[in-house]
Amino acid sequence: MSTVARNDLEQLQAQLELQKKLKNPGVTRKKIDKNEPLNKIREELGDCQRCPLAKTRTNLVFGAGDPDAQLMFVGEAPGRDEDREGIPFVGRAGQLLTKIIQAINMTRDQVYIANILKCRPPNNRNPEAEEIEKCYPFLQQQIKVIQPRIICALGAFAAQTLLQTKTPIGRLRGRGHPFNKHSLVIPTYHPAFLLRNPNKKRDVWEDMQLVIKLLA
Ligand code: URA
Repeated sequence: MSTVARNDLEQLQAQLELQKKLKNPGVTRKKIDKNEPLNKIREELGDCQRCPLAKTRTNLVFGAGDPDAQLMFVGEAPGRDEDREGIPFVGRAGQLLTKIIQAINMTRDQVYIANILKCRPPNNRNPEAEEIEKCYPFLQQQIKVIQPRIICALGAFAAQTLLQTKTPIGRLRGRGHPFNKHSLVIPTYHPAFLLRNPNKKRDVWEDMQLVIKLLA
């Protein structure tokens, strides 16, 4: 068998195993209700006025998906569409993220999607230190409740914030980084970057294969 065919077969086997596991997590993951603690975090945020973004946002974007997900995606901050709908990754970049999730034979309902910031920075400018300081602790609490095995960091900002580093995304991606005792961070390029640089699709696909392998 050629190397390409063997890689395809291994990939298929990993995906089948992952699907089996997701349908029947067995004894490896105890089922506890994570909705309640997540709702508590949402309540604590309330009509958040902790940073200046409260003045310009339409909706706070808490996060969406399976509270028991083994795979979590973390982006930077809501954009215009997300601000309008209150749901993460629903604009053009979000549609590409949905395709990436489908490419690994999963659905948006099987993963959890959130951002470092819960409110849109005006004109999608870069998040500021004060905003991160006020907002990121809530994402940390969400991660603590969900306990995903893999946190896929979308783009430099998410990866650098989660890993507390200034290393460029091109050097962070391609491998797993320990995050806590439950989770590994796998950085990859942001879907919005991918829309502008389609030549990076192969790298993202490689990162997704690593995600599948580690989950299975
Ligand atoms: N970009 C992000 O980083 N997050 C979103 O929710 C949408 C676009």
